[in-house]
Amino acid sequence: MHINKKAAWPVSVILAAGMVSAAMLPGLAQDRAPEAPAPSTPDVSAMETREQAGLKSVSDFDDIADERERSVAIFEETGKVLLHPRCVNCHPAGDRPLQGMDMQLHQPPVKRGAANFGVPGMMCNTCHGPENVQVVAQTEDIKSIPGNPNWHLAPIEMAWQGRSLAEICRQIKDEDRNGGKTLADLVGHMANDDLVGWGWNPGEGREPVPGTQAQFGDLYKAWAATGAHCPES
Ligand code: HEC
Ligand code: HEC
Repeated sequence: MHINKKAAWPVSVILAAGMVSAAMLPGLAQDRAPEAPAPSTPDVSAMETREQAGLKSVSDFDDIADERERSVAIFEETGKVLLHPRCVNCHPAGDRPLQGMDMQLHQPPVKRGAANFGVPGMMCNTCHGPENVQVVAQTEDIKSIPGNPNWHLAPIEMAWQGRSLAEICRQIKDEDRNGGKTLADLVGHMANDDLVGWGWNPGEGREPVPGTQAQFGDLYKAWAATGAHCPES
């Protein structure tokens, strides 16, 4: 897929929005020729299949007669999204965000800071703009920088890293730990929040969470309607 063509022009790392300097991004080697961009041939039918695939719909749980059991099964299905690195990377248990499918510590080493928005000089929006920005460069590691107008870390009491689905379930229902959200607020957050929605649109080079946000929101509505039960362990 990659065409490794040696180019004669000096290689520079150009970030489309110009928000990040190359020096701030270890791993962006500047001594290699740029790769030709992948040909842009979006396969719409394949994309549609991917959107539907990977997350069951509410009706798939109709055959579970017991309401509590159905509620738990629906919640467990949403775990495919909750436990996905796209979500957990921003809900870390420590002082630093994580990144990548292997949930490594964020590079460069940024800190959450008092407002979960970084520390002076290394605020999240120093690099993360209002939308995903494609990295026009030869790096093999980073194809885009994630972005959202509200990009910052989930507060420590909302940490999901290292927790089981059962623990996360109890935690997100707990108004003392979920930012004071009622069950209806929580369902609305899952269904409509823009930062949650980023998981389905994480930018080039990053695997999206399964299903669609609409499907995910419907699962939460059904979970709430069946008593919002959590897995035992
Ligand atoms: C860029 C960082 C970021 C990403 C990515 C992210 N979140 Fe969050 N999340 C936050 C922040 C910040 C808050 C706190 C703000 C709030 O409560 O509105 C939060 C709060 C939440 C809450 C509120 C309740 C709680 O206890 O955590 C839920 C639910 C949630 N996120 C779900 C998700 C899901 C699902 C995904 C992945 C699809 C996701 N988040 C991805 C930053 C993020
Ligand atoms: C100096 C620039 C810079 C700063 C400051 C910065 N980031 Fe990042 N961040 C990046 C880059 C570049 C990536 C993409 C890395 C990759 O995909 O390998 C990234 C990726 C991430 C990811 C991973 C997304 C994923 O699922 O793989 C998260 C989460 C994240 N940043 C959160 C934050 C938060 C929260 C802050 C503020 C506390 C912050 N970042 C500050 C440059 C920065």
